[in-house]
Amino acid sequence: MAFSRAEAFAPATVANLGVGFDILGLALQGIGDRAIVEFRDDPEIQITDIQGDGGKLPREPEQNVASVSARAFLDHIGEKRGLSIQLFKGLPLASGLGSSAASAVVAVIALNQLVGEPFTREELLPFCLEGEALVSGYHADNVAPCLLGGIVLVAGITVDAIRPLPVPADFHLALVTPDFPVPTNDARAILPSNVPLKALIHQTGKVAQLVDALHRSDLESLGAAMEDDHVVEPARVCLVPLLAEVRAAAKRAGAYSVFIGGAGPTLCALCDTAATAESVAAEMKQIYSEARMDSVARHTQVDLRGATVLDIG
Ligand code: HSE
Repeated sequence: MAFSRAEAFAPATVANLGVGFDILGLALQGIGDRAIVEFRDDPEIQITDIQGDGGKLPREPEQNVASVSARAFLDHIGEKRGLSIQLFKGLPLASGLGSSAASAVVAVIALNQLVGEPFTREELLPFCLEGEALVSGYHADNVAPCLLGGIVLVAGITVDAIRPLPVPADFHLALVTPDFPVPTNDARAILPSNVPLKALIHQTGKVAQLVDALHRSDLESLGAAMEDDHVVEPARVCLVPLLAEVRAAAKRAGAYSVFIGGAGPTLCALCDTAATAESVAAEMKQIYSEARMDSVARHTQVDLRGATVLDIG
């Protein structure tokens, strides 16, 4: 059966999980982006509408993450028809919640459905990466969990390097997103280009501890590993004001740990119940309120489904 229009949803994601820079990520329940893609009679890809971005995202097809990903897909399958894309941004831009990955994934997952699902979700990774690379280079720690859901190990940027990790049942997150953007490219430019061997040993040990803790559902060990970052957080702390204060407040309210979500500025606190996560989120927001900074607080769990097709016709 031939379809001409598909609508999809792609969830927010948190990359790195603290120490796992560029190699770990998870999908979040509740927030994300939506897109409608429709075949056109001409060969162009057009962004016909974007809502929710405050006019900030490029409408030019060669500069927009969604259309660049869609173009990679269409070229790969030799499809000559063009595409109209409507994008509904539920995610704040440059916030550490995987907004660009969601734009890429939501377009590609809808497009895959439109052409009869020739690819598995894992196989869609390269197309999504082409779009993501436009804004922050080739890293798959947002795109992979956005496609697949869950907590994902991204041991490389090839399809066979993506492995799902166990999600402890009592894994809850409190999040606070202060109201200023941190472009991922800026946050990557600030990182050291070389890491001393001692720091490498520490960091790889903590990533291994984190993965082991996930397998044993040991939130205490997990939290300790996540935030014991000797490489990336020290370089980026200047981009996230009040990190120490937010961390202290979250822990007083019962969080195991606080780490920077992706490239920031969202801060994520690991908690073991929804009630704790709710009060931790409120306490983290309070720190920004006292400093007269706007922020959005959320509490949620890991999304296990990944991007979904909402409608096809
Ligand atoms: N791993 C990436 C970074 C995620 O921290 O730069 C950016 O979304």
